[in-house]
Amino acid sequence: MSNPIRLQKFIAQCGIASRRKAEAYISAGRIAIDGQITKEMGIRIIPGKNKITFDGKLVEAREQLVYYLLNKPKGYVTTLSDPQGRPIVTSLVKESKARLFPVGRLDLDTEGALILTNDGEFAQKIQHPSHGIDKTYEALVKGCPNKEKIALLERGIFLEGKMTAPAAVSVVAKVGKNCLMQITIHEGRKRQVKKMFAFIGYPVLHLKRTAYGKLSLGRIALGDFRQLNPSELNKIFL
Ligand code: URA
Repeated sequence: MSNPIRLQKFIAQCGIASRRKAEAYISAGRIAIDGQITKEMGIRIIPGKNKITFDGKLVEAREQLVYYLLNKPKGYVTTLSDPQGRPIVTSLVKESKARLFPVGRLDLDTEGALILTNDGEFAQKIQHPSHGIDKTYEALVKGCPNKEKIALLERGIFLEGKMTAPAAVSVVAKVGKNCLMQITIHEGRKRQVKKMFAFIGYPVLHLKRTAYGKLSLGRIALGDFRQLNPSELNKIFL
């Protein structure tokens, strides 16, 4: 149960109306507390305890929407529970009481940028193919693909019965006999990056997502996270 808050604030938080409109509804006698119409403006109610109705219909508390960018470490699953008892990504954001879930998935051994939120609508929107949001990865691959192989991945390959969409692929650095590659894709097929490099004969040794749209991981340490503000959320769609 939460702390007492002003009735008009509660109504606004529930997404029924702005605070000013809520005040107008209270004055108009359209709001009831536990079945009792009230026109008392400053009255405080306890969300979860008092039953608030608007024109007789229950007004339900809505969890405040929150958004986090997490640098997922290896060994964490991006599901909400795991039959094998492995740790789940949302357990890393201890400060939040919200019912967070990850947007999309990363493999158990993949690190990097993962958005966690309790906003189902937003999660659906950013994953919808119509938005084609870019996801950028750094992949350490075994060996170093030549220009032809890279061009193949960029144009698209036939993977599990379907062509992959055009991708941007480049060599970031040579690491001994291996290469650190950058790849940007806007599809989200299961294990897609690993499958694409495996297809051209250069298996992925280590994979990290560095950006989601124009939202980069930046300096967030492995296992750490930060809250995103609304303007940063827009960066995802740029
Ligand atoms: N592609 C993969 O192969 N694995 C991931 O975790 C994400 C993209």
